[in-house]
Formats: sequence, structure tokens, C-alpha cells
Amino acid sequence: MIKNMKKTITISAPGKLMLFGEHAVVYGKPCIVTSVNQRISIKAQKNDEPIFVLNAPDVEINNYSKPLSDLGNGEIPKGAKFVEFAVLNFLEKYRSVIPARFADSARRANAGIQLETVAQFKSTFGFGSSSASAVCTIKALAELFEIKLTEKEIFDLAYKTVLDVQGLGSGFDLAAAIYGGTLYFVTGGKTIQPLAISHLPLIVGYTGVKADTATIVKEVKARFEKYPKLLKNIYDGIAMIVKEAKIALEKNDLEKVGQLMNLNQGYLETLGVSSEKLSAMIYAARIAGAYGAKLSGAGGGDCMIALAPSSKRKAIEKAIEKVGGKVLEVEVNTEGVKLT
Ligand code: MEV
Repeated sequence: MIKNMKKTITISAPGKLMLFGEHAVVYGKPCIVTSVNQRISIKAQKNDEPIFVLNAPDVEINNYSKPLSDLGNGEIPKGAKFVEFAVLNFLEKYRSVIPARFADSARRANAGIQLETVAQFKSTFGFGSSSASAVCTIKALAELFEIKLTEKEIFDLAYKTVLDVQGLGSGFDLAAAIYGGTLYFVTGGKTIQPLAISHLPLIVGYTGVKADTATIVKEVKARFEKYPKLLKNIYDGIAMIVKEAKIALEKNDLEKVGQLMNLNQGYLETLGVSSEKLSAMIYAARIAGAYGAKLSGAGGGDCMIALAPSSKRKAIEKAIEKVGGKVLEVEVNTEGVKLT
């Protein structure tokens, strides 16, 4: 717990839902992601001693601490990895420009840090809690040490953090956490384009199963290495769907968006990343009258999404619950990272 009267910075960032393009976006293709109204927040304070302290009770991290000189080394608990590497990357990049008033100049390189995270959502939903906490960490340190960073500078440092921790990943969830709204995004932040979306009547169904994104992404990579031509065609097909979906979303053509969701789900089934539970929930939603439905994220578990005409909303929610899903109250297209 952060108790004393030192300056405290509080930052929050939203979680995300992938609308179109998962997996293909790891291989240079575009995707469409939206931010959700469930957020991660982080409180940050400077420490007098050159020590990093983290409390993240939602992921069972209590009073985890180590000398700054050990950041990134040794056994790091899973729940602490993204935050620890975000701190390490921030200090490596910006240590030399931390203003001298935050410590005497001899100790400037050792400005210690205390962080505490709180999540409004369970890390098991697949809303990107690790990425949102890396974004919050970088923004909080920049505010704490009064260093001005652009959104793209935060993105680049957070993306390095994701690659340091899990090796593979597109960074789409970081973009949602930083910029908010609904974004057309290309791998590694090559394009980050906000889309003008008015209203997206989504239903979100949670499978109750936590997907292990890093493992699923590695499995898909192994499949790609085995069948490169086949999978390349799938990624090209998904990219075409994403481009059509961008136009349909901007025109608010919900029927077309729904049909494109169904097409995208077909490709995800072919990639082998859906699951019996996800597919049951997706079919239940479609049969109950959804414009379309698909999994959202890595697959294997986490959440599915359905686009619902308002007259069918209740029936679709009931159908999803009947096959064992849990409907989550989620609003989309919300604000990005901010000082609170
Ligand atoms: C996981 O939520 C989405 C993936 O496309 C991985 C990524 O983009 O980093 C499977």
C-alpha cells in the first residue's frame, strides 16, 4: 500500500476487444480494435531508495520488490513481468533526462519507484490487462518524472516491453490502451488510425476459460511454418475482410459488419483457434438473431462478440447464457490512457 504523503500520480487505461483481424495482424496485416469501459489504473510514487516495489493484488503480487539494478533479472512472477519490463525500458531510455531535482545528481540514475495497480476487470477476460498495465506504467513514470512523451513514444516503449516479455505480438492492445476509441491498426503500430464509429451494439460473452495468448500465437506460428502457402492465403483473406469492415463500420452498415464477422470467424476456425465453447456461443448468438458473431482475441477461450439488433438483444444474451457463456456488461469505443 502507498501510504505516505509523497506526490502520487494516478493513471488509468482501458482494456480492449478485437473486432476483426486477430492472428493475421501478427504477420503484417491490419486489424480493428476497440477500447472498453473497463480500465486498469496505476498509482505511482518515487522511492528514496533505488528500489522497485510493486503491488498488484488482482494478479496476486503483494509487496514484490527488488533493487533497480536487478530489474529484468532472476525469476519474475508472471503478474509482475509487464510492469517490471516497462519500468526497466523506461529507465534505460529516459534515465539520463530525469530532472536532477528528483534526486541529487549522483543518485539520479537510481530514482526508485513504487507502483500499485488496480483492475476493474478480471485478467482472465482477455481484455489485455498486461498491455494496459505496461502502458499505465510508462505514462505514470513520464508524469512522475515530468518527461513529456507523445502517444507514439509511449507505444514504441510499450511495444518493446511486450516483445521483451512474450517475443511475439502485434501491439494492437497497447494502441487501444493509449489512443482509446476504435482503431484501424497495422502490426507494430505501422498504422494507427482512429475510426469514426457512432454506435456499436455489441454483446460480449465470456467462456469462463482463460486463453493463453502467448501459447496460442506460438501454435499458430508453428502451423504457419508447416503450411506457409495455406496460411498466407488465410491471412490475405482476413486482411480483405478487415478492409471491408473498416468501410462498413464507418458507414454504420451493421448488417454488413455482422456478415464480415461471420466470414472472419470462418477463417479463425480454419486456423484452429476457436473452441467448442466459443463456437457454441457464436452459433447460439447467430441463431437467436445476431447480425454476426465471432471470437475476439487469441481464441481458445476468453470472449466472443456478437453484433445485435436492439430487438434481438435479450434473446441473444439468453441464448449465449443457455450454452454456458456469461454475458459481460461492456461499453466500447471509450477514452484512452489518462491522468486521473
Ligand atoms: C490476441 O488478443 C490477438 C493476437 O492477434 C495476438 C496479437 O495481435 O498480438 C492473436
